Amino acid sequence: MFDLLVKNANLPDGRTGIDIGCEKGKITAVEVGITAVAKETIDATSWLAAPPFVDPHFHMDATLSIGNPRMNVSGTLLEGIALWGELKKLQSIEDIVERAMSYCDLATSMGIGAIRSHVDICDNELKGVQALLDVREQVKDYIDLQLVAFPQDGVLRDQTAFENTIRALDMGMDIVGGIPHFERTMQQGAESVKLLCELAAERGLMVDMHCDESDDPLSRHIETLSYETQRLGLQGRVVGSHLTSMHSMDNYYVSKLIPLIVESEVHAIPNPLINIMLQGRHDNYPKRRGQTRVRELRDAGVTVGFGSDCVMDPWYSLGRADMLDVAFMGLHAGQLSSQDDMAWCFQAVTESSAKIMGLEGYGISVGCNANFNILQAQNSIEAIRLRAHRINIIRKGRIIASNPAISTNLSLAGRPKNFDPAGFTTA
Ligand code: FE2
Repeated sequence: MFDLLVKNANLPDGRTGIDIGCEKGKITAVEVGITAVAKETIDATSWLAAPPFVDPHFHMDATLSIGNPRMNVSGTLLEGIALWGELKKLQSIEDIVERAMSYCDLATSMGIGAIRSHVDICDNELKGVQALLDVREQVKDYIDLQLVAFPQDGVLRDQTAFENTIRALDMGMDIVGGIPHFERTMQQGAESVKLLCELAAERGLMVDMHCDESDDPLSRHIETLSYETQRLGLQGRVVGSHLTSMHSMDNYYVSKLIPLIVESEVHAIPNPLINIMLQGRHDNYPKRRGQTRVRELRDAGVTVGFGSDCVMDPWYSLGRADMLDVAFMGLHAGQLSSQDDMAWCFQAVTESSAKIMGLEGYGISVGCNANFNILQAQNSIEAIRLRAHRINIIRKGRIIASNPAISTNLSLAGRPKNFDPAGFTTA
């Protein structure tokens, strides 16, 4: 007997009228017309059952801290970093845990099932590390939380950052981070990439660096990151996050760079909401978009996932843990408007990011973890168009969050009495 049976769901790959049976936390049947009995049955009424949203780039130590101790007036990345430096001194471990747990509640309600969070290790007390290790344990039954040891102030620029990176990894952080474009010089940036990749190789860890997060067309850290990935045999385990400078680079240079990234099996994580908000700030008009070359990277064979980066913190005042907002912005900024491109944008916040994070048992097929969302949309494109309402959030075969479907009552002569926002799709 199934513990949970979901009837009549559409799937992101286009299959319709599918039933999904779950037993002991796993998916044990995905087929049409299951008649077996279940302890609990949901009728999905042709709405989309999709695997959990995956946020491959976030900062959980800073989230929900907006206004503390003050607002970011200029709205720039650099004022955000300065403001974060002020907050770091003031906040306690308990403050960070409380905010992060609140964020995890929000993220869960929005269907996020996995998050990779960068955690600043540039305070000698390692408050963020202690807090997020605690949070990782507290949320492990419903969020796969990967933690990146992130030297926010520069692993070479900050005197104790390298030592703190090692301490953070020893304490149980999962991934080696970095920020080469924030080091003092381009050369120091390159040295930081080499140093941190060697550390990851020694320890058998993954690497995820904030890389070339600027509008500088001559920033070259993704080249160094790709080279070091090959040299150290880290293929498939390394991410370049942001890569915004690639937007502004010379086209000839990019024609050489992208094949190097492909050869190195380095993954890319643009963060569309933040990139479109923070980049191009030194431009008058025309003003650059500042999102990396998503289409070109994807078409060359790079795995590209979209991250959210920030929600209500020193860098970004908005956000609601909605990976469909992220996909929506990535789609627009990248002009990814064909039907295939839009469906791909949904993958960028689900399957592709799950692949980058190396999540096991992810997806809607027999043998996978019984983790999925039911969204009030008929397919993945409609889900992005509507930033679809979350009906049921299912983890390990159990409903852990739910909402009634949205339906508006109309009182207009000669018009229907009831209006379903998900009722227009023909595709
Ligand atoms: Fe970031």
